Amino acid sequence: MSSADWWRHGVIYQVYPRSFQDSNGDGVGDLRGVINRLDYLQWLGIDAIWLTPITVSPDKDMGYDVADYCKVQSLFGDLTAVDTLIREADRRNIKVVLDIVPNHTSDQHPWFVDARSSRGAHHRDWYVWADPKPDGSPPNNWLSVFGGGAWTLDPPTGQYYLHNFLAEQPDLNWWNEEVRDEFDRIIRHWFDRGVAGFRIDVAHGIVKDRELRDNPVATDEDPPHVREHGQRNVYNMERPEVHDVLRHWRQLADRYQPPRILLGETYVLDVRTMGRFYGTGDELHLAFNFTYIHAPFSAAALAEVVAESELVIPDVGWPVWTVSNHDVSRVMSRWCADDERKVRCALLSLLTLRGTPVLYYGDEIGMADTSIRKEDLQDPVGKRRWPLPGRDPVRTPMPWRPGGGGGFTDPGVKPWLPLGDVDRRNVDDQRRDSGSTLSFVRDVIATSRRREGEPVQGELSLDAWEGAVCSSGST
Ligand code: NOJ
Repeated sequence: MSSADWWRHGVIYQVYPRSFQDSNGDGVGDLRGVINRLDYLQWLGIDAIWLTPITVSPDKDMGYDVADYCKVQSLFGDLTAVDTLIREADRRNIKVVLDIVPNHTSDQHPWFVDARSSRGAHHRDWYVWADPKPDGSPPNNWLSVFGGGAWTLDPPTGQYYLHNFLAEQPDLNWWNEEVRDEFDRIIRHWFDRGVAGFRIDVAHGIVKDRELRDNPVATDEDPPHVREHGQRNVYNMERPEVHDVLRHWRQLADRYQPPRILLGETYVLDVRTMGRFYGTGDELHLAFNFTYIHAPFSAAALAEVVAESELVIPDVGWPVWTVSNHDVSRVMSRWCADDERKVRCALLSLLTLRGTPVLYYGDEIGMADTSIRKEDLQDPVGKRRWPLPGRDPVRTPMPWRPGGGGGFTDPGVKPWLPLGDVDRRNVDDQRRDSGSTLSFVRDVIATSRRREGEPVQGELSLDAWEGAVCSSGST
C-alpha cells in the first residue's frame, strides 16, 4: 500500500470543533483547541481528522449554512490557524479533512443576497427559483428534510426558492456552469493549503430534476423512513447527473500529490444506491453507508448489512463504517443502553471490519447522549421538534477530565452546550485505567492498523478482550 492509500487503512476521527476543546475561555471549541489536542489523537492512533464546517456561517444550522466558503468562522480561528493545524497534524502523521457544503449556502451568502435582489441579478440562476402555481402555491410537492415544504416565496420578486433543509439554506442550482466553476475554485483553495480531502455534505442530493417534477408520494410498500417523510426523494435528490459532478471532483482530487480524498455523505439508506457512488473507481473514495448506523444492534442485522455492502461495493471501491455522528444518537445510547461491554463490542466491529472506520469524538470513551433542556437548545431540528431533542444531545463538549469545565473550557465558564457527566466518563481517568474503554479502543487501533512497514504498536491484553465480551442476546 502506498502512502496515497492512507485512507484505506487508517482511522478517521470526526471532530465537532465547537465541542472538542475551547482554548480561549469563551465556552466554544476552536481550532487552537484542536491543535492542543493533537498529541492525544496521535496517542490514540488515528490517521486523519474530519472537521465539521469551520467556514463563515450565521449558524442557523451550526455551520452547515455557509456564508463564505474560503474563510474561517472567527469563533474558530482564522486561515493561519488552519495552516498551523495542518502543519502540526502532519508532524504527527495525521491528515486534515474538511467538510464542504455544496448543496446549499446560507441565505446570508453574498450570492444569495444578490440572487434575491431581482430576477435579473447575476446570481439569480445560481439558485433554484420557480414561479408559483396559478393558485399561488409552491411549484411542486417537495418537502424539506427538516419538516414542512421545501419552497419559500420571495414576495419582492414573486418566485419561490428551493431549500431541501431550512429556509435559511437555499439550494444551489448545479445546472449552472458558474456554480460548478466556483466550487472548483473553492475545492482548489483548500487542497492547495494542504487539506487532505473533503467530507461532502448531502453528496447524493446536489443536482435537482431539471423539470422540477413532483416526488412520488410514499406508499405502504416504502421503508419506514420514506413513509415518515411522506414522499420518495426521487426528483429533489438522488438524480443520476450528480455522478458527473462527483467524477469531475475526483479528477480534481487525483491531480494532487498525494491525491486528495472524497468522503461522501451519501444518505440514501439503500446499499445498492450507495454502491453507485464509487462509480468505476472514478467517483467517491468512500461513500458513507448509513444502513449500518440505522440497523438494530444485533449480530444478524449487522452481518446482513455488511454482507450486502460487500456484494454491492465494486472491487475498485472500499467500504467505510461509522457507528455515530453529529446527526444521530451516539452508539452508547442508541445501541448499547449505557453498557460498557456492548459499546466495546460495537467499537470492536467498527474498527476491525474490512474498510475505513470513522470514529466520532467521544465514542472512544463510551460517551453517551447528554440530555438537553429546552432553554439550552441550539440545533434548529431540536427547536422545531421539541420535545424530541434534535441533535444537540450528541454534540456536547468532550469530557477531558473530571470537575468544572471538564477540561473542555475553564471552570466557571458556561459551555455552548451543557457538559454531560464528566466525572463518570472522561479521557484522563480512562487513560490511566488499562481496563477502560479508551484503553481498549487504543489497543484495537494499534493492533489492527496496517500501515506499510510500520510495526504493530500494541497488543490487546486478554483483559481488554474479555472486557469486550458482549452480554448474551444483544450481539
Ligand atoms: C447533513 C449534515 O450532517 C447535517 O448536520 C446538516 O444539518 C445537513 N446535512 C444540512 O446541511
